[in-house]
Amino acid sequence: MTEAWGPDDDKPRRATGPVRVRVPAKINLHLGVGPLRPDGYHELATVYHAIGIFDELTARAGDTLTLTMEGEGTGELALDETNLIIQAARALAAHARVPAYARLHLRKSIPLAGGLAGGSADAAAALIACDTLWGTGIPREQLSDLGGKLGSDVPFLLHGGTALGTGHGEAVSPILARPTAWHWVVAIADGGLATPDVYRELDRLRDGPVAAPALADADAVLAAMRQRNPAVLAAALGNDLQPAALALRPELAGVLKAGVAAGALAGLISGSGPTCVFLAADAGHAAALATALDRAEVCREVRTARGPMPGARVI
Ligand code: C5P
Repeated sequence: MTEAWGPDDDKPRRATGPVRVRVPAKINLHLGVGPLRPDGYHELATVYHAIGIFDELTARAGDTLTLTMEGEGTGELALDETNLIIQAARALAAHARVPAYARLHLRKSIPLAGGLAGGSADAAAALIACDTLWGTGIPREQLSDLGGKLGSDVPFLLHGGTALGTGHGEAVSPILARPTAWHWVVAIADGGLATPDVYRELDRLRDGPVAAPALADADAVLAAMRQRNPAVLAAALGNDLQPAALALRPELAGVLKAGVAAGALAGLISGSGPTCVFLAADAGHAAALATALDRAEVCREVRTARGPMPGARVI
């Protein structure tokens, strides 16, 4: 390990104490899926939206790289080299040419394989936490490039807010919007859905050639958001992966139906599912909707969450 930089040096300083990073979950207000590309990804035009369900990653100095966790998915999530947090720490260390030494601890609240980008969120948190702990001072765009190789949603989760995603999701264009809080109810299912399985099912369901995803559909969602009227946004929400998620998990149709019956302005599958999200008119409506959905006993857990939220940040 190199020595800490001196006070006269203008290089970033390493953090001495624990570094705590909070990262949100994401939903897709619109998910337009185009053809399968030769690299195995599908071309996307999506509107990302970060919501108030958070994972927290703490990084401390160590003499090796270790990961521990508590919360959602403890005992299910592998903590070895297959974990995106470890991969993110190693990718950053290699890029910055520093040893990948840290003791990392994850407090997980975002469900595993839920379509809320929990894995990508944790990778984004690891990039920010290790960059701060090691004082590597890597510019945001470079963190984003590193992140995009780890998971399609990592660049967005570094950024947060609401943003347009293109490419395979890794090309993120921030949206300049007047601040508006949107109120969501999130229905978390038992068990997860593997993202590749859902994309594969979509390809199977599709008949004939597929057009590139239309940016106009994403633009329509952004235009609806500018009106700041939840009923207008409700009418614009959409997800091309929804039929595939429903084909693999038919019971999710009942969850969507229960949410709408309970008064949601709209309901849709989040990303590749199986989490369902419902738009509410305001905070009071979201709370009432959550109670009604809970009583319907159609899912494992119901939470309310506001959006947009900032991306991965040191707290
Ligand atoms: O990038 P991420 O790790 O989230 O992607 C997981 C898998 O989901 C990919 O390997 C691919 O099978 C599928 N995927 C896709 N098109 C995308 C994003 C993901 O086919 N745009």
